[in-house]
Amino acid sequence: MNVIGYVFSYKKEIEARETENRLQEEKIEFFCKKHGLNLLKIVIEPEESRPDYRPTLIKLLNEASRSKFSAIVVYKFEMLAEEEEIRKWIIEEFKKYRIQVYSVTETSFEIPIQESETKTRSIKMKVRDLPSLPEVVTRVTELVQNPKSSAADMGRVISHDSGLTSRVLRLVNSAYYGFPKQISSIQHAIMILGFTTIKGLVLSSSIFKIFSPKNNLVNTLDYKKFWKHSLLTAIASKKIHQKLFFEDDENIFSAAILHDIGKLILDQYDHNNYANVIAEAPDQIYINQVLNLEQKYCEVTHPSIGHTVAESWNLPKVLSDVIKYHHDPLQSEENKKITTIVYLGNYISQLVLNVGEFKMDVFDENVVEHMRLNEDDLLVIYRDIEEEATQIEDLESFFK
Ligand SMILES: [Fe+2]
Ligand SMILES: [Fe+2]
Repeated sequence: MNVIGYVFSYKKEIEARETENRLQEEKIEFFCKKHGLNLLKIVIEPEESRPDYRPTLIKLLNEASRSKFSAIVVYKFEMLAEEEEIRKWIIEEFKKYRIQVYSVTETSFEIPIQESETKTRSIKMKVRDLPSLPEVVTRVTELVQNPKSSAADMGRVISHDSGLTSRVLRLVNSAYYGFPKQISSIQHAIMILGFTTIKGLVLSSSIFKIFSPKNNLVNTLDYKKFWKHSLLTAIASKKIHQKLFFEDDENIFSAAILHDIGKLILDQYDHNNYANVIAEAPDQIYINQVLNLEQKYCEVTHPSIGHTVAESWNLPKVLSDVIKYHHDPLQSEENKKITTIVYLGNYISQLVLNVGEFKMDVFDENVVEHMRLNEDDLLVIYRDIEEEATQIEDLESFFK
């Protein structure tokens, strides 16, 4: 959990104040270490602050809606305000954006889990009518995991599903892959695209088909944009992986293409509530705001419901992990590397398609640091993906 430390001293003399500030900083650091909280930074009220004038605290409150942290840690609650009523008000204000306030001396520590068990159960009830996965998905997944299987085996499985066959052929013949000659056999397509990409396409095409847009719904998720974002995230993640580790990963394309599956589920199984989320955060770029709105209206977030459904479908653990942690990748224990790559691929894809320019402030500094990247590295990747994006236009026929 990402947290910010907040330090304030009531002492008037500079030296005494500085000593107290330091002490508070140390206590906050120790507290975070002890409870496994990821301390992003400590902010200190400047000299001109007074008990009734807290520019730094006000700034934190103002930024709460698009913040990248889930809690604020203070030495004592009193550091927020002397008067209890004002303290309560501040804590409530932060809570509106799902930001908790912890006190080093007064919090008996039980970090509240972001979504309660009961809420997860209730959304599970909502998705109880979800259709099961088409058999072809299971068979393709099994095939890919079996080192002895060949392109011919894969081709046979896909060929049994004529809709899928034509979708794969349409894609491989699209401008994006840009082969000079028409490709008409599925085996040939597999040889060209590779096993892992084909697996991702079969998975996503089959799953997105379950959630194809319903005509009678208005104000809904923009499906074309969603498909494009998913595919571009997969392409970007695969590239980033190759760039950083000089090799391919057999799951990255599939994991990346499915990362936002929870959004489709919310749109179709909790449509009216989710329409509010889309209306209030149309570009979906500042993720804390998006997750807060999802929690507020749908009582569950898209990573969480996507994960629940991925598990119920028995998708491989690495896929359900990426779905769950793609906005908080350092939390993933078993699949941190791939989840972090998808995290980066996701934002690059969003910046390219939704924003149209590179912005550093959407990235969590800790994740960027963890990958030992800097702004220039990300900008190079951005330019690369921007180029790719111009070529993926004719997608509609693939996912519908
Ligand atoms: Fe997402
Ligand atoms: Fe996404």
